[in-house]
Amino acid sequence: MPLNHIIIIMKNKLLYIFAGIMAALPVVAQTDAIQVGNDGKSWNITTRSSVYRLIVNSAGNVQTVCYGDRLLAETTGGAMGDEIPVRGGYVSATPMLEVVFPDGVRDVELEYKTSEITAIDGYPVLKTVQRDKYYPLEIASFIRVLPEYDMIEKWVEVVNTGKKGAIRIENLLSGSVFLPKDVYELTHYSGVWGHEFTPQTTKLTQGTKTLQVKDFKSYGSSSFMVRPEGENDKYRGKVWFGSLIYSGNWRIDFEKFFNGNVQIAGGMNFWDQEINLKPGQTVTAPRMLFGYTGQGAEGVAMSLVSYTREKLLPAPHRDRTRPVLYNSWYATTFNVNEEHQLALAKVAKEIGVEMFVIDDGWFKGRVNDKAGLGDWTVDKNKFPDGLKPMIEKINETGLDFGIWIEPEMVNPNSDLYRAHPDWVFHFPNRQRHEGRNQLILNLAREDVYQYLYQYFHNLLKENNIKFIKWDMNKAMTDPGFPSAPADEQRAVRIKYVENLYRLVETLRKEFPEVWFENCSSGGGRIDLAMMSRFDFNWVSDNTDPVERIFIQDAYLSLFPANTMISWVTQEDWHRMNPSLEYKFDVCMAGVLGVGYDITKWNDQQKRIATEKIAQYKKIRETVQKGDVFRIVSPFEENRSVIQYVDKSKRKAVIFVYNMAEYPANASDETQRTPLVKLRGLSPDAHYRIENIDGSYSGRYLMEIGIALPLRGAFASRIFVVNTE
Ligand code: GLA
Repeated sequence: MPLNHIIIIMKNKLLYIFAGIMAALPVVAQTDAIQVGNDGKSWNITTRSSVYRLIVNSAGNVQTVCYGDRLLAETTGGAMGDEIPVRGGYVSATPMLEVVFPDGVRDVELEYKTSEITAIDGYPVLKTVQRDKYYPLEIASFIRVLPEYDMIEKWVEVVNTGKKGAIRIENLLSGSVFLPKDVYELTHYSGVWGHEFTPQTTKLTQGTKTLQVKDFKSYGSSSFMVRPEGENDKYRGKVWFGSLIYSGNWRIDFEKFFNGNVQIAGGMNFWDQEINLKPGQTVTAPRMLFGYTGQGAEGVAMSLVSYTREKLLPAPHRDRTRPVLYNSWYATTFNVNEEHQLALAKVAKEIGVEMFVIDDGWFKGRVNDKAGLGDWTVDKNKFPDGLKPMIEKINETGLDFGIWIEPEMVNPNSDLYRAHPDWVFHFPNRQRHEGRNQLILNLAREDVYQYLYQYFHNLLKENNIKFIKWDMNKAMTDPGFPSAPADEQRAVRIKYVENLYRLVETLRKEFPEVWFENCSSGGGRIDLAMMSRFDFNWVSDNTDPVERIFIQDAYLSLFPANTMISWVTQEDWHRMNPSLEYKFDVCMAGVLGVGYDITKWNDQQKRIATEKIAQYKKIRETVQKGDVFRIVSPFEENRSVIQYVDKSKRKAVIFVYNMAEYPANASDETQRTPLVKLRGLSPDAHYRIENIDGSYSGRYLMEIGIALPLRGAFASRIFVVNTE
């Protein structure tokens, strides 16, 4: 007989009480995240706004009854689908598990085995174990509840409990949820180099819409929102949302059934992938976040962003104020040398920069992108005395020093490749597809892992490096590992990602002081798994300020501002000659950096930069750590308004960017009220806005709104709001 459980959460501490074989449970408090039914075989999982209900039916199948508004807890309707849909029997949903048993049988038949409630980092986890009715396969599904973020994390673990024969796993997703019958719209983020995170909205009609990555390049995101059609108020309305916490190939399916229900299932992409699970082995799928809020798109952003900032980002640096950066890439490309770097650092210090980062070009043979990757020793032609003396001189000016690396790659024109041509992914008799003249090192190999670990361990040990920019510029091709056993060949991508995480984690543990920036030709690998291992992201190689306003608006709807590095550069994709002030204001919406050849700046440019950096330092606590409200979206109007409110609600910063200007009353936009309704303030507190007359209650500013005067195309302004 199963045990009944009561779970009580008090001050983030989990008290787990086995109630034994009791006939009835005491009434469980509303705040409890996992409530177990009297039969011990039904669960209501609740967050602030949502309920997820699971049952074991009389046939022993674990099924999902509902997911949505908390009031659904009163629903008495039947199940919508299996908690873990499999390939087997009637295939009525997108399967999460598809296997082949050693005797060739390809159908799975699951039945409930056990369940337990545990906790991970203070958050309750429901684990339900099912097993195949005949074959030695067990699958545990986990649901970790994050009540204040209105989210649950889902993942599964599969075990081969047999004594002989491998089970071939042809598909294993992380989690699935079912939405009730309705007409739905999906919003997701697509992208390509230079145009990261472009929002797309589409109606879900009968069939399956798949979002996926097959080449390790993800300029969009696995994050999504699903809303009933027409419910697109920014601040209200039902939204189901989610994101996969994984950096390899991923896939999310949105299947709309004829009866109107929708299933969302996601996880690793098993396209050209399989795992042969030997007796005793376990495989764990990455975690997938699912959320539900009644507060529209803003509710989604609040949940995802707060969770990432407060729980996912690497703990030691999570709350540290991010430094103002200088990065040499746009100033020098590969043409770096000690004298020029020192000259750049001198001006960087004068204008207020705190961290000086040398980008690509510093290592042996790296005169252009055709050679050098893999040979991580300093280029003596450019730095005759090595890096050390330069770093010391830069440190003497009071700046910290950072450096660019691209560990996962090799140029065929390198000593490493000449010595180990078998260390890259490749297939015999097939072309090795280069991208930017480089190939991908097979990080699934232990010798490759050890080589990279040793090199970067030494680099960090021997030099006073405080910041690593970790790049990855080529898409995955030719994923062959000819010397691996045949039954492991199609699991290489999984092993690669495991070793990538291991490498970053090991280095971070050994060098806890060092900041890590994640880059992949701009934002080609920004996801929640990287977010949990890196402090920030290089969001895009597109540094044109207007283009950037769009990319940043979308980025800030998914990720925290303190992870968004933006540099002021000379890029001008639309030939508008935007002012230096405008460029700074755009980059000040996250972690500010400068990327010009500042040795060529005149006094006026230096003065503007000095003033802007000083202004940034005054507001950066609010920008980096506050809540972000995207009040006017550049995707909807010809301007963008973003507001940051610090946690105490005593201070806010508002950025206003114009992208065009039309004659008065010439368009709907110019006929609309100029009043902007602020968000996130205390209704009863009184606020003053710098450079605007008067004192206003939070309620007034949020319900009536305030004009934020700004004239001219490509003009910008920052308003600072303080309580009286
Ligand atoms: C990638 C990055 C750039 C820069 C170059 C260096 O393109 O996105 O920021 O570091 O590599 O080669």
